[in-house]
Amino acid sequence: MFKNTDFTKQKQLLMTSVAMMISHLEGKASGTITLNRIAENHSKKKLNIHPSLYQSWIDSLVSAAKECDAKWTPDIERAWQKVLRAGVDYITQSYDKP
Ligand code: HEM
Repeated sequence: MFKNTDFTKQKQLLMTSVAMMISHLEGKASGTITLNRIAENHSKKKLNIHPSLYQSWIDSLVSAAKECDAKWTPDIERAWQKVLRAGVDYITQSYDKP
Protein backbone atom coordinates (compact mmCIF):
# COMPACT_ATOMS: atom_id res chain seq x y z
CA MET A 1 0.00 0.00 0.00
CA PHE A 2 2.86 2.37 0.69
CA LYS A 3 5.17 1.40 -2.17
CA ASN A 4 4.95 4.88 -3.79
CA THR A 5 4.57 6.87 -0.58
CA ASP A 6 6.89 9.75 0.30
CA PHE A 7 7.57 9.00 3.97
CA THR A 8 8.95 12.43 4.82
CA LYS A 9 5.57 13.83 3.82
CA GLN A 10 3.61 10.94 5.34
CA LYS A 11 5.31 11.42 8.72
CA GLN A 12 4.16 15.05 8.78
CA LEU A 13 0.65 14.02 7.69
CA LEU A 14 0.53 11.44 10.45
CA MET A 15 1.45 14.01 13.10
CA THR A 16 -1.19 16.45 11.86
CA SER A 17 -3.87 13.81 11.46
CA VAL A 18 -3.46 12.42 14.99
CA ALA A 19 -3.82 16.00 16.27
CA MET A 20 -6.94 16.42 14.08
CA MET A 21 -8.36 13.17 15.44
CA ILE A 22 -8.01 14.53 18.97
CA SER A 23 -9.54 17.90 17.93
CA HIS A 24 -12.51 16.05 16.44
CA LEU A 25 -13.02 14.09 19.66
CA GLU A 26 -12.88 17.39 21.56
CA GLY A 27 -15.74 18.63 19.39
CA LYS A 28 -13.74 21.07 17.24
CA ALA A 29 -15.10 21.60 13.72
CA SER A 30 -11.60 21.85 12.18
CA GLY A 31 -10.87 18.33 13.44
CA THR A 32 -14.16 16.93 12.14
CA ILE A 33 -13.71 18.52 8.67
CA THR A 34 -10.20 17.04 8.35
CA LEU A 35 -11.27 13.64 9.64
CA ASN A 36 -14.18 13.58 7.17
CA ARG A 37 -11.71 14.08 4.31
CA ILE A 38 -9.38 11.37 5.66
CA ALA A 39 -12.36 9.01 6.09
CA GLU A 40 -13.47 9.58 2.51
CA ASN A 41 -9.94 9.05 1.16
CA HIS A 42 -9.52 5.77 3.09
CA SER A 43 -12.96 4.41 2.16
CA LYS A 44 -13.65 1.40 -0.02
CA LYS A 45 -14.10 3.48 -3.19
CA LYS A 46 -10.72 5.25 -2.81
CA LEU A 47 -7.69 3.87 -0.88
CA ASN A 48 -9.82 0.90 0.28
CA ILE A 49 -8.28 0.53 3.76
CA HIS A 50 -10.29 -2.30 5.30
CA PRO A 51 -11.55 -1.55 8.86
CA SER A 52 -9.79 -4.69 10.15
CA LEU A 53 -6.39 -3.06 9.44
CA TYR A 54 -6.76 -0.19 11.87
CA GLN A 55 -6.10 -2.09 15.12
CA SER A 56 -2.54 -2.73 13.85
CA TRP A 57 -2.22 0.98 13.11
CA ILE A 58 -3.30 1.77 16.70
CA ASP A 59 -1.02 -0.87 18.24
CA SER A 60 2.00 0.32 16.21
CA LEU A 61 1.46 3.95 17.13
CA VAL A 62 0.99 3.12 20.83
CA SER A 63 4.08 0.93 20.83
CA ALA A 64 6.15 3.73 19.18
CA ALA A 65 4.86 6.26 21.74
CA LYS A 66 5.74 3.86 24.54
CA GLU A 67 9.33 3.56 23.27
CA CYS A 68 9.67 7.36 23.29
CA ASP A 69 8.07 8.13 26.65
CA ALA A 70 10.17 7.47 29.75
CA LYS A 71 7.14 8.25 31.93
CA TRP A 72 4.85 5.73 30.21
CA THR A 73 2.25 3.98 32.42
CA PRO A 74 -0.52 1.42 31.79
CA ASP A 75 -3.08 4.23 32.32
CA ILE A 76 -1.47 6.31 29.57
CA GLU A 77 -1.53 3.29 27.30
CA ARG A 78 -5.24 2.71 27.96
CA ALA A 79 -5.98 6.39 27.33
CA TRP A 80 -4.19 6.29 23.94
CA GLN A 81 -5.92 3.06 22.94
CA LYS A 82 -9.31 4.56 23.83
CA VAL A 83 -8.79 7.86 22.00
CA LEU A 84 -7.28 6.29 18.87
CA ARG A 85 -10.01 3.63 18.78
CA ALA A 86 -12.71 6.34 18.92
CA GLY A 87 -11.02 8.24 16.05
CA VAL A 88 -10.60 5.09 13.99
CA ASP A 89 -14.26 4.12 14.61
CA TYR A 90 -15.25 7.49 13.18
CA ILE A 91 -13.08 6.96 10.07
CA THR A 92 -14.29 3.40 9.45
CA GLN A 93 -17.97 4.45 9.65
CA SER A 94 -17.45 5.87 6.15
CA TYR A 95 -15.75 2.77 4.72
CA ASP A 96 -18.81 1.51 2.83
CA LYS A 97 -20.36 4.87 1.99
CA PRO A 98 -21.10 5.32 -1.72
C1 HEM B 1 -4.16 0.62 8.72
C2 HEM B 1 -4.38 1.92 8.68
C3 HEM B 1 -4.02 2.80 7.52
C4 HEM B 1 -3.54 2.50 6.27
C5 HEM B 1 -3.16 1.12 5.71
C6 HEM B 1 -3.41 3.76 5.54
C7 HEM B 1 -2.97 3.88 4.25
C8 HEM B 1 -2.79 5.06 3.59
C9 HEM B 1 -2.30 5.16 2.24
C10 HEM B 1 -1.91 3.99 1.34
C11 HEM B 1 -2.24 6.47 1.93
C12 HEM B 1 -1.78 7.10 0.60
C13 HEM B 1 -0.33 7.45 0.73
C14 HEM B 1 0.26 7.98 -0.56
O1 HEM B 1 -0.16 9.06 -0.99
O2 HEM B 1 1.14 7.30 -1.10
C15 HEM B 1 -2.71 7.21 3.09
C16 HEM B 1 -2.81 8.57 3.15
C17 HEM B 1 -3.16 9.26 4.27
N1 HEM B 1 -3.50 8.72 5.48
FE1 HEM B 1 -3.69 6.76 5.91
N2 HEM B 1 -3.80 4.79 6.36
C18 HEM B 1 -4.19 4.24 7.55
C19 HEM B 1 -4.66 4.92 8.64
C20 HEM B 1 -4.73 6.28 8.73
C21 HEM B 1 -5.27 6.99 9.87
C22 HEM B 1 -5.89 6.33 11.11
C23 HEM B 1 -5.15 8.31 9.59
C24 HEM B 1 -5.56 9.49 10.42
C25 HEM B 1 -5.33 9.57 11.72
C26 HEM B 1 -4.53 8.44 8.29
C27 HEM B 1 -4.21 9.61 7.67
C28 HEM B 1 -3.79 9.75 6.36
C29 HEM B 1 -3.62 11.01 5.66
C30 HEM B 1 -3.84 12.39 6.26
C31 HEM B 1 -3.24 10.70 4.34
C32 HEM B 1 -2.99 11.68 3.17
C33 HEM B 1 -4.24 11.73 2.31
C34 HEM B 1 -5.35 12.51 2.99
O3 HEM B 1 -5.11 13.66 3.42
O4 HEM B 1 -6.47 11.97 3.11
N3 HEM B 1 -4.30 7.17 7.79
N4 HEM B 1 -3.05 6.32 4.07
